[in-house]
Amino acid sequence: MIPRPIAIVGSGSIGVAFAILFARSGRPVRLYDVDENALERGRADMGARLALLSDAGLVGEPTDAVLARVEWHTDPHVAAADAELVQECTPERVDLKRAVFVQFAAAAPEDALLASSSSAIAPSMLVDGLDDAVAARVVVGHPGNPPYLLPVIEVVPSPRTARSTVKAVAEIYRDAGLRPVVLRREIEGFVFNRLQGAVLREAYCLVRDGIVDADEVDEVVRSGLGRRWSIIGPFETSDLNVRGGIAAHAERMADSYARMGAERGQHDPWTPDLVARVASERRARLPLVEWEDRVRWRDARLMALTPLWDAAS
Ligand SMILES: NC(=O)c1ccc[n+]([C@@H]2O[C@H](COP(=O)([O-])OP(=O)(O)OC[C@H]3O[C@@H](n4cnc5c(N)ncnc54)[C@H](O)[C@@H]3O)[C@@H](O)[C@H]2O)c1
Repeated sequence: MIPRPIAIVGSGSIGVAFAILFARSGRPVRLYDVDENALERGRADMGARLALLSDAGLVGEPTDAVLARVEWHTDPHVAAADAELVQECTPERVDLKRAVFVQFAAAAPEDALLASSSSAIAPSMLVDGLDDAVAARVVVGHPGNPPYLLPVIEVVPSPRTARSTVKAVAEIYRDAGLRPVVLRREIEGFVFNRLQGAVLREAYCLVRDGIVDADEVDEVVRSGLGRRWSIIGPFETSDLNVRGGIAAHAERMADSYARMGAERGQHDPWTPDLVARVASERRARLPLVEWEDRVRWRDARLMALTPLWDAAS
């Protein structure tokens, strides 16, 4: 059975990227834009990006078959007809996005799910003033850029979002090959940009204070932190860096990291309770008896990726 279409609102950079992701996964896609020129640009952009993906062996069929699943529209009613999900990809302005939700709540079927690609706007702001019945169907679905290469997507509910909406949207994303992370509640910047922001804030301070220049910060990430983070996150990194895992790492490093935070005016020490909570999560995923094997696995992954990184630098 052919699945119901995904309607994408806005055929800019992220709209086209979502179109590639969903169409490549077998979904019919209808792209809508107010600007006919943007649609034309989007169509050319999609062809070019798909060709590159195909050359890299990342499209499992001829690109024409993927392109054939995508329609391009300037009529919102045609674009929204029958849609299971409306993925809003318009510029980062709350008034504009809210108006799009009003427009597509009316144009799409009554059970259509409504997701915003917003990078940082809290979903409760997006649904402010909207009917409860519409607000219940709205989440933020914040992708990495581009979502067909970075599979994480943050699903962020407002307090007015129905739980069934969160579950259904996450399922649609999972079916398209994404790995949804559902936030328990909304927070400005979500998780992706808060983590990115923490690194960027410190990077700016280091440049401001003349410790290193911008490219030297990038070198530390390119040749160090980023290589590890491409296979494991910061918690698993700490867990694998010290024999004994997170608890041992915190015992060794917590005071030093607390001083670095305080120097920047941030007072969020890793309290014993907090460390115990993270340690318990890590031990559930990786019992300490398997720790050495996992360290060897990490090193094997780094070895496999080293030729790629060396070729890129
Ligand atoms: N670019 C990124 O790296 C990135 C990453 C994640 C999330 N996002 C978010 O995705 C959203 C879109 O970003 P982008 O970079 O694709 O923007 P963009 O400027 O490339 O594209 C926006 C498109 O929306 C169209 N548009 C404007 N008003 C419209 C309306 N009322 N109805 C339909 N279409 C309309 C424009 O014509 C344009 O084609 C933003 O909220 C952004 O924060 C962007």
